[in-house]
Amino acid sequence: MTVASADEIPTGSAKSVTVGPYEIAIFHVGDEWFAIEGTCPHQGGPLAEGWVHEKTVTCPWHAWCFSLETGRLQLLETTGVATFEVRVENGRVAVNPQPRGLD
Ligand code: FES
Repeated sequence: MTVASADEIPTGSAKSVTVGPYEIAIFHVGDEWFAIEGTCPHQGGPLAEGWVHEKTVTCPWHAWCFSLETGRLQLLETTGVATFEVRVENGRVAVNPQPRGLD
């Protein structure tokens, strides 16, 4: 499902999109793209507005840190957020609307 133009999410940025029941945060980090559940499981902070360092995003509200690759919370790896398959073709960003869950 196309959710954005690649131009809307330049390297180093992120965008929040709604796909069905999910708020998904899409991140463009270097040459890579990641899509994770965009609502922090702590108190609902917007992960698309978080700080990205390498392949980790820090929630802007209380600094919980999540892997962009696996969705796992770094301090307690038994929990985290769902991840979604994301791909870019012909300048369009597409997300699989079915979450992968925690790897
Ligand atoms: S809402 Fe994300 S760390 Fe509290």
